[in-house]
Amino acid sequence: DKPIYILAIESSCDDTAAAVLKNDFVLSNVIATQKIHENYGGVVPELASRAHQQNIVPVIHEALSKAQISKEQLDAIAFTRGPGLMGSLLVGTSFAKSLSLGLSIPLIEVNHMQGHILAHFIAEENFEKPTFPFIAMTISGGHTQIILINDYFDMDVIGETLDDAIGEAYDKCGKMMGLPYPAGPHLDKLAQKGDPDRFAFPVPNVSGLDFSFSGLKTAVRYFIQKQEKTEAGFVEKNLEDICASFQKTVITIVMNKLKKAVKETGVSRVAIGGGVSANSGIRGALRQAEANYGWKTFIPKFEYTTDNAAMIGITGYYKFLENDITSIDVSSKSRYTF
Ligand code: KG4
Ligand code: ZN
Repeated sequence: DKPIYILAIESSCDDTAAAVLKNDFVLSNVIATQKIHENYGGVVPELASRAHQQNIVPVIHEALSKAQISKEQLDAIAFTRGPGLMGSLLVGTSFAKSLSLGLSIPLIEVNHMQGHILAHFIAEENFEKPTFPFIAMTISGGHTQIILINDYFDMDVIGETLDDAIGEAYDKCGKMMGLPYPAGPHLDKLAQKGDPDRFAFPVPNVSGLDFSFSGLKTAVRYFIQKQEKTEAGFVEKNLEDICASFQKTVITIVMNKLKKAVKETGVSRVAIGGGVSANSGIRGALRQAEANYGWKTFIPKFEYTTDNAAMIGITGYYKFLENDITSIDVSSKSRYTF
């Protein structure tokens, strides 16, 4: 059969990304991360849109040239319709629509969160694709959900955060500890060198499969204020132990919920996705769960965990196979549930 070439565009937050796929194989996966937001300790939406505008043409050119594919060989354009920042989404959406019109090829809209999940179906050596049904936990700067995946596009959200997202908790607590934005990866690195049992932070009591991280955030704030009052410079001196103790608490929270989800659904195949699934502690706990509880776990390759366009491309590929094509009058959706 003739292979299908898809160009995918992702611009939902602060990364401008493009990828080219040949069926389920990734030929190129290019990301321009916007450094500008580091100065502000968080993503500034207006600046993000402007940077996307600057980056989108070079990023797409690079993706095509790395894949050694010409525009004329493409079979479809996939793009992130939402959820995300409206101004950021508009850049990718408008560009995708124009390209689809210019090349007279189908347009395929993709839900970013479905992309994080279907990233597990990218063909990779030494990576097994999950079989249906499986449980997916999407953990990122904007989302914290547990989803039962019955089929590629048949997904039921069975648990989610009632307040902050898990990545937000990492970023906000890390900021309190003086770490640069985004704090998640820094906190993770420090945690690996610290004593996880040195300090105790509260595990919230939330019913069902839902999460809450605002209590943990408040507990970290009070802890830091109290310790600094007693001994100036305490946080800096004990940073590794504080990070390790924080990370241990987060791992306890997510593993408790996953155990509950497995028990309630009877499904013991568990996959993770989203930026926070790059976390070493969460990855480790999940790997251990294979031996400890007999689960089969799926942990994506590092480059497919944080925002990328390859995950949009693989989702577009499965939609293409189902002939699920998007009309050209489509518009971005900042809030986009499925
Ligand atoms: O999926 P993503 O790239 O963007 C969103 O859709 O939000 O996720 C970004 C989030 C940020 O909050 C970042 O701090 C967090 O993922 N993150 C991590 C790690 N790497 C990225 N959090 C904890 N440990 C990490 N190693
Ligand atoms: Zn994401």
